[in-house]
Amino acid sequence: MTPTAQLNVLLLGSGGRESAIARKLSESPCLNKLYIAPGNGGTGASGINLALSPTDFDAVYEAVKEHDIQLVVAGNEDPLVAGLRNELEKRAAAEGRELLIVGPGADGAALEGSKDFAKRFMERHGIPTAGYFTATAENVDEATAYMATLEAPYVLKADGLAAGKGVLIIPDLEEAKEALRTMLAGQFGAASRSVVIEQFLSGIECSVFALTDGAGDYRLLPVAKDYKRVGEGDTGLNTGGMGSVSPVPFADAEFMAKVEDRIVRPTVAGLVEEGIDYRGFIFFGLINCGGEPYVIEYNVRMGDPETEVVMPRISSDLVPVLLAAAKGHLGDAVVEQDPRTAVAVMAVSGGYPGDYAKGKKIEGIADAEADCIVFHAGTTLKDGELFTSGGRVLATVALAEDIPAALEKSFNAMKKINFEGIYYRRDIGKDLL
Ligand code: AMP
Ligand code: GLY
Repeated sequence: MTPTAQLNVLLLGSGGRESAIARKLSESPCLNKLYIAPGNGGTGASGINLALSPTDFDAVYEAVKEHDIQLVVAGNEDPLVAGLRNELEKRAAAEGRELLIVGPGADGAALEGSKDFAKRFMERHGIPTAGYFTATAENVDEATAYMATLEAPYVLKADGLAAGKGVLIIPDLEEAKEALRTMLAGQFGAASRSVVIEQFLSGIECSVFALTDGAGDYRLLPVAKDYKRVGEGDTGLNTGGMGSVSPVPFADAEFMAKVEDRIVRPTVAGLVEEGIDYRGFIFFGLINCGGEPYVIEYNVRMGDPETEVVMPRISSDLVPVLLAAAKGHLGDAVVEQDPRTAVAVMAVSGGYPGDYAKGKKIEGIADAEADCIVFHAGTTLKDGELFTSGGRVLATVALAEDIPAALEKSFNAMKKINFEGIYYRRDIGKDLL
């Protein structure tokens, strides 16, 4: 396809994921201007930050008009689940404006927005996933009886979006029954009015990403693994992600062939079959149980911090592929992968994922950037100086021939960065060696 050198793109979101996508987009010869809304203290290096909320559809559409945007890329799930695509398409159609969007409509976004919808979808299409039962206030007895047929631990998932906090894994049956009642009574608000009870699967997780065009075609992006626990050796509380690696050694050709045959293709075909015009990223959260892949969850966006290692490993221009997917025909669009390994180390605010302070001055980024990439997440610029503004603050990402070499580069770069309370794991990827 011929690049449109005049392309103006609006990327929605403000995390490390959006920093990584923004940097990748900014390298494209097809790009005229890149806007990021709302962005963070680092995204201004790749484009122009716009102070608006991605769930404020009127504001997003105003920005589309004002900046003559032709392509909107949704970074996070909330606006998609709330109908971003539907709303933007409606407004654009009313004005005869051509607007391309990467990200599904509300129907496709239900793959992430409702765990029960996702489970039923997988059931309809024979996609391997844990056994389940969906509990509501009306069927609690049946639900607890189902629980009693499972082996411990017990997995309880709020049906709706719960800011990544809606999954409980409980070792004891009686405690799990109590937790189910608490969830149904509104622990996570409307999100837990339905609760999916799942069979526990034991194995090692990885994240597979596809970009699909709504017409049955897709491209895989580099595979990654994230590190959710705050402590080294995968200990302590769950976080939004403390680091990531790509590629994932156990996701070899044989494993990936199973993933494509049993999971990716049936998902993409299932969407088409059900009349869901899904143009965007599909994130398959997988677990490898003795060499067999199962779906733990779908997300309708890229992963964070996986994107921080995925984007640097895409060696071809991403913009033509996004355009092709958004137009509904991937055709001959390609995604080329850099064979090297990328490791991301995430620096977080002291105390995270519990209470933490914000507004700490960040120093040393320019030094760190001499030999790795720095992606910002919770940072903000004030009078030309950078300050922390979130739990996950920034990531250093390095490419090298293998995990130890990439980790060392990334870790050495991180040592040059400082803010009061800085904390990061030094063992990202080591479990895979
Ligand atoms: P989710 O929000 O669905 O990704 O769940 C959060 C985390 O809980 C996952 O990343 C897994 O580590 C874990 N998890 C979810 N479902 C299961 C399951 N059925 N078996 C084992 N672990 C699970
Ligand atoms: N890293 C997992 C996620 O983005 O949901």
